[in-house]
Amino acid sequence: MSNKLSPKNGEYFLTLAIESSCDETSAAVLKNGRAVLSNIISSQIDVHKKFGGVVPEVASRKHVENIDIVIEEALKKAGVTLKDMDYIGVTYGPGLVGALLVGLSTAKAMAYALDIPLVGVNHIEGHICANYIEDKNLTPPFLCLIVSGGHTHLVHVKDYGEYDILGRTRDDAVGEAFDKVARAMGLAYPGGPVIDQLAKIGDENSIKFPRSYLEPDSFDFSFSGLKSAVLNYLNSQKQKGLEIKVEDVAASFQAAVIEVLVHKAIKAAKLKKLDTIVLAGGVAANSGLREALEKETKKEGFILKYPSKTLCTDNAAMIGCAAYYNYINGFTSDLYLNGIPNLKLGERR
Ligand code: KG4
Ligand code: ZN
Repeated sequence: MSNKLSPKNGEYFLTLAIESSCDETSAAVLKNGRAVLSNIISSQIDVHKKFGGVVPEVASRKHVENIDIVIEEALKKAGVTLKDMDYIGVTYGPGLVGALLVGLSTAKAMAYALDIPLVGVNHIEGHICANYIEDKNLTPPFLCLIVSGGHTHLVHVKDYGEYDILGRTRDDAVGEAFDKVARAMGLAYPGGPVIDQLAKIGDENSIKFPRSYLEPDSFDFSFSGLKSAVLNYLNSQKQKGLEIKVEDVAASFQAAVIEVLVHKAIKAAKLKKLDTIVLAGGVAANSGLREALEKETKKEGFILKYPSKTLCTDNAAMIGCAAYYNYINGFTSDLYLNGIPNLKLGERR
């Protein structure tokens, strides 16, 4: 930690964090990055549900309506005021640009008015950091499998803020595949949690969907072939006038996804000689994935960590945690910081 940095209150840093990259407007207050004093999440799921997915323009407008309310609530719940804050952490990418700009402009205005630093945060890094909040003793290095609606990454987390991306999806993200398959079956958005529930009562061996492992030494993923296979199956059953058991389709699809994710995560951890595997992102809430990883990691002698469900999906507390490590390592942003829709993990602007 730089000697120049000292908290306003002399004891610990207070972070105000803001997240608005997709369809959750969220604000949080944290003490030194790992203790969450408040984490207010206003989800727009009900608004987007009727469109079957997130409508970017609608998301931006909703963020504008919600952001001040969410921030006020976060401060109130934490029992602090804006003047107590040491810096403001905010997601500036990746995400929907219009949505990102709402949180970012708010954070910039507040940082300017309060004359405190602005700390731009990468959303994917935020997902990884959710685990530091969940487990106060977790420290790098570890292997992280990030599975969300927009991202699928296998990352060697070497240190705080230091990432080696071993593999990523070449087409659909895992959550995206869940959502698209669910939509084709006429299930509600977001499809991930619905498929998770249905899979519990379905037979995962009823339909043999393809598993895409790609090249033998590759840690990349591909889910579009699997998604197409499910869509073809649904169409062919309909054309033949045959019954579609949604719970069996859900279980068989989910099993195909999990098999590849678990295999590659274990293989990568072995290759990098890491003893801990960490899950992150919205799909980390999936009970089938958690169970399968629990079983395999136990068998193979790895430690497994994952965040509680609220910390898996988008929230500002995880952004506040990432902001803290950026801040104490000297990474602050200027007020020209822009929203970067395709910001890469490990990239700083
Ligand atoms: O991390 P997140 O909130 O947003 C992104 O950064 O993308 O992830 C949202 C994704 C959605 O695709 C949603 O369907 C999926 O996470 N998801 C799940 C579950 N809960 C959320 N997928 C599978 N099983 C779940 N239980
Ligand atoms: Zn996310």
